[in-house]
Amino acid sequence: MNLSTKHILSTSQFDKATLLELFEEAGKMEKVLEDASNGKQSNLLAGKIMAALFYEPSTRTRFSFEVAMQRLGGTVVSNADMMATSSAKKSETLEDTGKVVSKMVDVIVMRHPDEGSVKKLAGKSDVPVINAGDGRAEHPTQALLDLYTIWKHFKKLDGLKIGLMGDLLYGRVPHSQVDLLKHFENMIYLVSPNDLKMPRKLVDDLSKSGSEVVETGNISDVIGYLDVIGMTRVQRERFPDEETYERNSRYFVLDKGLMHKAKSDCIVIHPLPRVNEISLEVDSDPRAKYFEQVGNGVAVRMALLKMIFSK
Ligand code: NCD
Repeated sequence: MNLSTKHILSTSQFDKATLLELFEEAGKMEKVLEDASNGKQSNLLAGKIMAALFYEPSTRTRFSFEVAMQRLGGTVVSNADMMATSSAKKSETLEDTGKVVSKMVDVIVMRHPDEGSVKKLAGKSDVPVINAGDGRAEHPTQALLDLYTIWKHFKKLDGLKIGLMGDLLYGRVPHSQVDLLKHFENMIYLVSPNDLKMPRKLVDDLSKSGSEVVETGNISDVIGYLDVIGMTRVQRERFPDEETYERNSRYFVLDKGLMHKAKSDCIVIHPLPRVNEISLEVDSDPRAKYFEQVGNGVAVRMALLKMIFSK
């Protein structure tokens, strides 16, 4: 596999061949996970240490990286609340933190509320840094696992009708998803309230690639066409004011009624956490894949870690 730098900061570093190779590798990692649950632990990354630096809340992403590292025989040092309990609290700069932590570990995973912050720290790090979400900008590994989920289910990533719905303005996940989808040819429906539309540049770039793009505010009009229903949460913490959030917070809710209109062989994905955008009644629908996706996330992150260390 071939990535342009040692760090994984952006989906723009991935080309189609690298993506498909990563997905093949993730498939193999599912077998490694199965072996681990049968007591046969991999030691591929034995002796390697990962630091998880989280300046923003996380459940899945941090655990998923930590589990991925440990399932491959590596170990982890972790801080889930860097803002409050690390030297960030004493005004240490991201650059200094990068220099310091990279003297002790072999790879760094980082999440931060500010766009560009992971790149800043990576610039001073001697070891690879992986972006686990920087503000509203990007969340590359989530998009990788979302595309892996689609690829694994449909055995292809072309010729599909994919809907991305929710907060397309502040959601870093849909931003990263469309950037990766540029490598494939699909019909993409971007469904959001007017206040939360996908940034123009991302829409234009996607349209210039092989995909056809439709922007709409109405989920019921399009749900019947979709192979993939890609949901996301309205990102309350990134809104400038509570009133705009309130206006958009219940714009649409995927419930049984809407699922009734959806194709019988579609899938529903969501990075989670969910707030109210998917009703609990949808969880038992066999088309709901959002909890299964979490396992895919571990496999994809194992594949990424392996890739980093075999460079
Ligand atoms: C996402 C994130 O942090 O951007 N969560 C995740 O990593 N699974 C999505 C979100 O918070 O809405």
